[in-house]
Amino acid sequence: MPVDTIARPLPAVIDEARRIGLAVDDLFAFHLAVPSDGRSRLYEAMRYAALGGGKRLRPLLTVAAARLFGIDEGRAVRAGSAIEAIHVYSLIHDDLPCMDDDDLRRGRATVHKAFDEATAVLAGDCFHDLAFEIMGDPATHEDPFVRCDLLLGLARASGLDGMGGGQMLDLAAEGEALDLAAITRLQQLKTGALIEYSVEAACIMGRQPDDARTSCRGYARNIGLAFQIADDLIDHSGDEDAAGKRVGKDAEAGKATFVSLLGEERARRQADMLVEQAIEHLASHGEEADLLRAIARYVTERDR
Ligand code: IPE
Ligand code: IPE
Ligand code: MG
Ligand code: MG
Ligand code: MG
Repeated sequence: MPVDTIARPLPAVIDEARRIGLAVDDLFAFHLAVPSDGRSRLYEAMRYAALGGGKRLRPLLTVAAARLFGIDEGRAVRAGSAIEAIHVYSLIHDDLPCMDDDDLRRGRATVHKAFDEATAVLAGDCFHDLAFEIMGDPATHEDPFVRCDLLLGLARASGLDGMGGGQMLDLAAEGEALDLAAITRLQQLKTGALIEYSVEAACIMGRQPDDARTSCRGYARNIGLAFQIADDLIDHSGDEDAAGKRVGKDAEAGKATFVSLLGEERARRQADMLVEQAIEHLASHGEEADLLRAIARYVTERDR
């Protein structure tokens, strides 16, 4: 069934994202109470970067996938917030002058513009560490073996075989003519790994055996890719005010993206097809997977 013929789910997803976003804010605010010593500027920068902004897609995915396995939502929010902390760190560093050199993020000045570069580097570093602190806390899961698996997965999704490695491929791709396989790999590491792990974390918390994770993994892989194509499309032809970040930067930097390779129309069709496939992966699930289905549609229908 074409995605367009399914009732538009956006308001429901946005409401859920808002609700989960508030819970993520609470957890970050708890960890970021500003001390009255020389670290206060760092705390302020971290609060500025993390509170009240972003779509919170990753925690939303963890919460949505947790519904498949009857996992307590508060715990899923903790795991999702740990992933969001890695994401926030990646954005702060991605915007630095030595990387994408952006001055607008989530509708306001980037951290290094609002504060300074050294503070932005440290804020990113400390979000990286906060991620592991939140994930490794017994409040996230009572079983130390599960926590160990959660931490291992988080490290893998963030590092050389995940976001960090993907960011290197992305920088190396400037001015290069990559083929579809190379761009797919780049995007899968840069963006896909953390998105896939947002769903995998729920499987880990629910102690799902490997073979029971296949449909979740298929779903997450497809939406990870669709999400980055949508990001590239926003950069290509999106609205800066709606996006809350500068657009047109990829072409300016000569970056190889799905859009530069396929053109706008084919990239859009490819993203829609990935979303349909993602939803098909959930066929064996009932209404407990409805939020995951709605998120899949949101991934390409969004304008920010
Ligand atoms: C932007 O991520 C960077 C990419 C990984 C493509 P998001 O689009 O999830 O950014 P926020 O969290 O909503 O600001
Ligand atoms: C960044 O990708 C992905 C990260 C891991 C942070 P982009 O550079 O395309 O993200 P935007 O467009 O600046 O949000
Ligand atoms: Mg970048
Ligand atoms: Mg960028
Ligand atoms: Mg982008």
